[in-house]
Amino acid sequence: MRPNTLTARVRPAPARRRRRLAGALAALLAVAPGCTDMYDQPRYEAYEASPLFADGASSRPLVVGTVPRDDVRNLPAVEDRELLLTGLRDGLPSRTAPFPVDRAVLERGRQRYDVFCAPCHSPTGDGRGVIVQRGFTPPPKYTEQRLVDAPLGHFFQVITHGHGAMYSFAARVAPQDRWAIAAYIRALQLSQDAKAAELPQEDQSRLEEAAK
Ligand code: HEC
Repeated sequence: MRPNTLTARVRPAPARRRRRLAGALAALLAVAPGCTDMYDQPRYEAYEASPLFADGASSRPLVVGTVPRDDVRNLPAVEDRELLLTGLRDGLPSRTAPFPVDRAVLERGRQRYDVFCAPCHSPTGDGRGVIVQRGFTPPPKYTEQRLVDAPLGHFFQVITHGHGAMYSFAARVAPQDRWAIAAYIRALQLSQDAKAAELPQEDQSRLEEAAK
């Protein structure tokens, strides 16, 4: 195999590197004698005033085309902020979502579920995702009676705060998406305990065809 000439040439020997680092630190301390208070650092806090810019603000306006980190453009608008953010209605986990759940919401829920939850819970929610197959604590099946009976707000709260071995997803999944995922878990539960008579006529006919 060819030796990695680039790293071999660029990286100095460890001892030399240590000496250089020590030298650099000493030089830094020498030129910054007043810089002993690590708490009060020479930078602007968010929204601090600044004489540097004509408008007097240190925070600069967003450039055209900036993409928000929490991209809420496609999420449903919600009036009941309390319910949206806590999962509670009248102090109890809510039985319903803070916005109507339609096909688009369920599809969004499935997409987010497959990204964030399926690695442990599996795409069907049986708790045998790939991370679990490699040794992580197995979660319960969503079809356990306790979880079938659980209100939607319980799923929202589990996603928001974490639950036992499962960590919180609050920093990764926006509240509207947590509700969409909660609704999708309900759909997963229904899909695995559906009575033939509850299916649309079209699907019932297909079942009868397949049984022949
Ligand atoms: C890293 C693995 C992992 C991921 C990813 C994960 N979970 Fe879990 N989940 C668990 C484990 C483990 C438990 C069981 C925790 C316990 O009881 O200690 C659990 C439990 C649950 C429960 C049952 C709570 C109860 O009342 O028993 C729900 C609902 C749930 N998770 C939903 C989700 C959703 C929704 C997502 C995605 C946003 C998700 N989980 C992502 C591992 C995970």
